[in-house]
Amino acid sequence: MRIAMIGTGYVGLVSGTCFAEFGIDVTCVDKVQGKIDRLLKGEMPIYEPGLEELVAKQVKAGRLSFTTSTADAVRDADAVFIAVGTPPRRFDRAADLTFIYQAAREIAETMQGYTVIVTKSTVPVGTAREVERIICETRPDGDFDVCSNPEFLREGAAISDFMRPDRVVIGTESARAQEVMRAIYRPLYLNETPIVFTGLETAELSKYAANAFLATKITFINEIANLCEKVGGNVQDVARAMGLDNRIGGKFLHAGPGYGGSCFPKDTEALLRIGEEHGAPQHIVESVVKVNEERRRDMARRVIAACGGSVRGKKIGVLGVSFKPNTDDIREAPSLYVLPLLQAAGAVVAAHDPVAMETAAQEMENVTWCKDAYDVAAGADALVILTEWNEFRALDLGRIAELMHEKRICDFRNIYKPEEMESRGFSYISIGRPEILPAGDIRKRAKA
Ligand code: UGA
Repeated sequence: MRIAMIGTGYVGLVSGTCFAEFGIDVTCVDKVQGKIDRLLKGEMPIYEPGLEELVAKQVKAGRLSFTTSTADAVRDADAVFIAVGTPPRRFDRAADLTFIYQAAREIAETMQGYTVIVTKSTVPVGTAREVERIICETRPDGDFDVCSNPEFLREGAAISDFMRPDRVVIGTESARAQEVMRAIYRPLYLNETPIVFTGLETAELSKYAANAFLATKITFINEIANLCEKVGGNVQDVARAMGLDNRIGGKFLHAGPGYGGSCFPKDTEALLRIGEEHGAPQHIVESVVKVNEERRRDMARRVIAACGGSVRGKKIGVLGVSFKPNTDDIREAPSLYVLPLLQAAGAVVAAHDPVAMETAAQEMENVTWCKDAYDVAAGADALVILTEWNEFRALDLGRIAELMHEKRICDFRNIYKPEEMESRGFSYISIGRPEILPAGDIRKRAKA
């Protein structure tokens, strides 16, 4: 079995490498010579735990190779996966499918013998059908079938998500293509991973529905957190109580500063567009998008309020700028909203992130990038935790307290306990958890 993987971005590189681990011969293709040169030297274009080692292992085993030539990779392939980027178009933010269709044309020109062409990038409903049409048009004599095989990888956990997925979704209308796909996913099939065969459109929609539902779950618990703050509830306990109901499940119920990343914001917006275009508006997702946008901005307002209503001339230290831990990706990260808003309000911002500072420095101006959390805390009037990196979970709080100008922490990932912060004399705010008030204050409030 031979596979060509077109596109060495996140999905392409991880999937190609993992297919090689399944024992398949994989050639990864990218048009960008520099990217292929780096990969040939064993350098990874992205940060993903475990990827570098796995690529090295598969290259050494002779199952994984890299090239800039689509023709060379496609000629002998039994299946060709399209995993190229679909960035939002500048003028209307809809997914730009130019690279997908270009890849389809190139595949059609060079494929030999029966070939299964698989769309792996997240694409609007109808794209696989259009790929089929383009290939038919380019090669009316071509012996091929098209499949949609959406990817459900999480950044930072991509390899284990690929190797041990909850399910694999394969959209195809051809029994012959089903057999090829079953052979490709054989190791998972033997592991009893559910493999869901559907039509093309259903597979495409499954991906959007899954991401939109997860984004909805997060946004739901974020709004419940707001309510907890008002009524004196604890959102973590509410989430646990809810999540123990098997019908709900406990995952993706961590309240925080709003979801970000390269997927949820883009895919929820795309689903709205698809719904509109087909006359089936997605009102719930529309609210989710609106609430989440507002939430990321609201985090800056919370910091300002915690600082007594103004941050003018104050030093605000930020811990974490990536959209979540274990990635250097800052796309749509809460930091992109919070830092500029604090700066606009007159704050001087210093920040540290274990791996995302280089990418962030290209997007954010006038931020002092620090070597660690203690450097950030030095002289700060507030410390804001935006990403729950492990190294921020066990800070030496005594040292932090000594270094700070004002002992004030805004923990937007709830990685510390209010009691602990209180006992160390910090003024501490978190998400959806009641403030701990000294007994005197409670009585004062009750009187008021
Ligand atoms: C997401 C999905 O989880 C993957 O299944 C999917 O394949 C991927 O998008 C994709 O479409 O390619 P990813 O964007 O890598 O994966 O990250 P997540 O772990 O899902 O986190 C997304 C955002 O939600 C982050 O900002 C995270 O901090 C936030 N989040 C997540 C919460 O605020 N609370 C939670 O309980 C979970």
